[in-house]
Amino acid sequence: MVKQPNLENETQSLEYETVLRELKKELTPRGLKYHIESYGCQMNAHDSEKIAGLLTEMGFSAAENKEGADLLLFNTCCVREHAEKRVFGNIGALKKKKEANPGLMIGVCGCMMQQADVAPRLMRRFPFVNFVIGTNNLHELPLIMQRVLQGERPVGVSAQDKAPIVEGLPALRAPGVSASVNIMYGCDNYCSYCIVPYVRGRERSREKTAILDEVRELAQNGYSEITLLGQNVNSYCGGGAAFANLLRYVNDIDGIKRIRFMTSHPKDLSDELIEALGELPAVCCHLHLPVQSGSDAILTQMNRRYTRSHYLNLVEKLRAKKPELELTTDIIVGFPGETEQDFEDTLLLMKQVGFSAAFTFMYSPRTGTKAASLPGQIDEKTKKDRLLRLNALQEEQTRQTNQKYIGKVEEVLVEGSDNRRDTPMIYGRLSCFKMVYFPGNPDKIGQYLPVRILEAHANTLLGEMAT
Ligand code: 5AD
Ligand code: SF4
Repeated sequence: MVKQPNLENETQSLEYETVLRELKKELTPRGLKYHIESYGCQMNAHDSEKIAGLLTEMGFSAAENKEGADLLLFNTCCVREHAEKRVFGNIGALKKKKEANPGLMIGVCGCMMQQADVAPRLMRRFPFVNFVIGTNNLHELPLIMQRVLQGERPVGVSAQDKAPIVEGLPALRAPGVSASVNIMYGCDNYCSYCIVPYVRGRERSREKTAILDEVRELAQNGYSEITLLGQNVNSYCGGGAAFANLLRYVNDIDGIKRIRFMTSHPKDLSDELIEALGELPAVCCHLHLPVQSGSDAILTQMNRRYTRSHYLNLVEKLRAKKPELELTTDIIVGFPGETEQDFEDTLLLMKQVGFSAAFTFMYSPRTGTKAASLPGQIDEKTKKDRLLRLNALQEEQTRQTNQKYIGKVEEVLVEGSDNRRDTPMIYGRLSCFKMVYFPGNPDKIGQYLPVRILEAHANTLLGEMAT
């Protein structure tokens, strides 16, 4: 049965249901296939699962690859210019394909389509695109597809800033044991470099009961590892205490063995949350806590609203509660005005904390953000040079944090198999998020197995089953 989303009024939801029914009747016998190309963060990856769920309800099925698709959908990201350029390049490359096969449907969705000037620019440059749709309008996809199938072109849905949360949209998750669940949408932080608040809109938290119902259903369907998603989960429903409470409820759900969450903002990481991290058995031994810079002057310019010493103090408190906790982070180099000394402060912070991994980025100016018009923009060469130095230090630290595990027996949740070597290997993550490869057969996928760690490589560990 089609699950009914909580659309705003009765007329809207009746229309949604009727359209879905009509589409399913029309499309199922045609055997149309879709392929989604997803860019960017985990939030986007989860949106793609929702799009796949909606398309399945409409009677589409997944193509094995993009060549076999009747509908190609690009779920875009605009956090950095690089991602945006790749999307434009990949869509442009479809021109010939569309000429050879005019029946091919091409759609573009995601954060880029929430930028006021981008959707019209994209339609002008690539008139062969059939439709565009913003992140906050995914629930309108059935109505859009109906118009596209009727031959209307191009179809666009305007992006909404204060979009309501639409519950009950079906999600087609990859089969397995690990699932992502949104707990909130949007962001109110306005870090000066970041486009997200402009494209994902104001912060909106989902109702606790809706989240818990979704997690319970996932647990009943065999998913035992849950990742709670939001741009700043620590401000869920107005504060860290509320998020800590949510963690307690999720921890108590039968069948949930591991809980992860991202992203946390250091300014909102409450004592209650640190307490919960230390106490709750299902909460994983890993925290992703983006620091962005180790210089107070740059943190102020970034509008991060914490200092270097506040961050280091948090790390101390976290490790006092949970000594084995692994920390990962995001860092931007080459923010406007960043001096060599500011950058060295970042290197020093990295050494002081000992992150087990870091996602590192060169600052990319985003039109409309405050930092894009700041004086002191840094040249590409300096940015690249700083990125290389930062990555070299992080690689060394990752290796060091990996070494600690040698000789230990740790629990791995098996995610997949790799048959490229002589011995068939399987792999999965430790609670602390480190990836472990070890000999085994794919029938173990989905199981929690004790593994003895034998070797530490640059980004992964190598082990053997300890049973
Ligand atoms: N330039 C470079 N990196 C950025 N990020 C966000 N905006 C920008 C930008 N304009 C990085 C931040 C954030 C991560 C998701 O992407 O480090 O935490
Ligand atoms: Fe962007 Fe800052 Fe919000 Fe993260 S917290 S999404 S970096 S504005």
